[in-house]
Amino acid sequence: MHTFQPFPIGSIEINPFKLIGQQWGAVTAEKDGKYNTMTVSWGGMGVLWNKNVATIYIRESRYTKEFLDASDKFSITFFDDKYRSSLKYLGAVSGRNEDKLAGARLHINQDMNVPFIDEGNFVLICKKLFSVPITKEDIPDKFLEDFYKDGDYHTMYVGEIVDLLAR
Ligand SMILES: Cc1cc2nc3c(=O)[nH]c(=O)nc-3n(C[C@H](O)[C@H](O)[C@H](O)COP(=O)(O)O)c2cc1C
Repeated sequence: MHTFQPFPIGSIEINPFKLIGQQWGAVTAEKDGKYNTMTVSWGGMGVLWNKNVATIYIRESRYTKEFLDASDKFSITFFDDKYRSSLKYLGAVSGRNEDKLAGARLHINQDMNVPFIDEGNFVLICKKLFSVPITKEDIPDKFLEDFYKDGDYHTMYVGEIVDLLAR
């Protein structure tokens, strides 16, 4: 296991557009002692109710959604470029069908009883504040056409960032 240090949130300088949108992250949650992880490239970081929060958007079909719904915590792990192929893998296969972490040669670490990926270099530990499904009526026609032809809609999860780890 690698050693991670907690980081004061005020001391980090990151570009969330690049980090989430271009480098991508891995969302991990636990259910009944099992873990599942998937790649995300849509999300955000900001402030809500005076709390530092992270937001992710997860389609109905994702196995990880079952884990997010069962747990009150989740993590988002970010990686060096050398793990790009692992993120592609976590974003291409489903934990319903195989042991994805083994397939991607990644391992689980834990902080505050929340699972995250040990090979990462920067981790957001989040306490779920709420989740809300984004319905057909919410979505502009252009994006319905571009992203939802199959009716696989997203749920938005907003989590308070309760710990921020780096190594
Ligand atoms: C670069 C990349 C970004 C992705 N971003 C998201 C995302 O933000 N939300 C989402 O629902 N799926 C996203 N996916 C798709 C899931 O990661 C993918 O369907 C994954 O296999 C789901 O795994 P699971 O069934 O084990 O949860 C992305 C995939 C890739 C490759």
